[in-house]
Amino acid sequence: MWENGVLSEKLAALKGKMEEELGALANSRELYEFKNVYLEGKKSRISELMKEMRSLAPEERAGFGKSVNELKEWAFGRFQAMEEKMKRLELERRYEREKIDLSIPAAPARIGNLHPVTLVINQLVDIFSGMGFEIYEGREIETDYYNFTALNTPADHPARDMQDTFYLSPEFLLRTQTSAGQIHVMEKKKPPIKILSPGRVFRSDDDATHSPMFGQMEGLVVDRGITLGDLKGMLDVFVQKVYGEGTTTRLRPSYFPFTEPSVEVDCSCFACGGTGCSLCKGTGWIEILGAGVVNKKVLENCGIDSEEYSGFAFGIGLERTAMLKYGINNIKLLFGSDLRVLGQINEK
Ligand code: PHE
Repeated sequence: MWENGVLSEKLAALKGKMEEELGALANSRELYEFKNVYLEGKKSRISELMKEMRSLAPEERAGFGKSVNELKEWAFGRFQAMEEKMKRLELERRYEREKIDLSIPAAPARIGNLHPVTLVINQLVDIFSGMGFEIYEGREIETDYYNFTALNTPADHPARDMQDTFYLSPEFLLRTQTSAGQIHVMEKKKPPIKILSPGRVFRSDDDATHSPMFGQMEGLVVDRGITLGDLKGMLDVFVQKVYGEGTTTRLRPSYFPFTEPSVEVDCSCFACGGTGCSLCKGTGWIEILGAGVVNKKVLENCGIDSEEYSGFAFGIGLERTAMLKYGINNIKLLFGSDLRVLGQINEK
């Protein structure tokens, strides 16, 4: 049996040191550092101990060598066990870190939607282009002539008071009605004419149902033999598409200088079906647009023979249509950008 006080103390001390360090390892990087310092290569603590062999008497060497090898085997065994444990632990930690809880509800993706007035424009354009109407986009700055005079509303005509006009100069103004586009179209194009003209109009008017800027959609049909009956037939198809099947129209006498006769068009209340409710204020009818047979004077102003041709025209308020359709009670909500309001109105 090998006996050497100093060396066996050194062996025991090294073992103790390794034991202590192994117990304090926190991760595999530290474990490999440990291996490097104590077990691997010629400079390792174990190899250093082996070198002590030289100072021993020959009969002591075998015993010492055996003890060092045992220590080495023990240390490798511990290292391997530790390595396995570290790998397992680190994998567990990684799983924990990268864990995905598939049961958590996904954050809702915000999907944009079209503005209610845009939805109305799209729907009207769709319906009327299906009936063969072409789109004409007029201009927002007009002359007094196109907005009024040519539309049979000369200066001092009392009907000018119906529309509070923003004048830019004595000659130029912000158009108060898309009807101004009728004149441009009829000046350029000879019948048959079938146009639809959406656009912004401006009036000095401001309350819960009026805004100084709003949208209109003008319709104009001119051809041989056009009557008020054609207007009524077309409107019946139109209201059924916009407000639902079963909706009907009625015409009430009205006045516009550029149509004769002129009518105010009501549709049967689509909320109560005509029995009377808060939307139709108990009447069963809702006013939706102004219209009429094109005044002969207007045709003549545009060089169209009023003996040969006749026509009808109508003007729809876009915000008003959106308010009715989507149950909005204040026109300002349509000009604000509050997504809590606008986001509720979603149609394809
Ligand atoms: N321009 C009219 C208005 O703004 C509406 C209208 C258009 C009436 C076409 C008749 C014909 O009130």
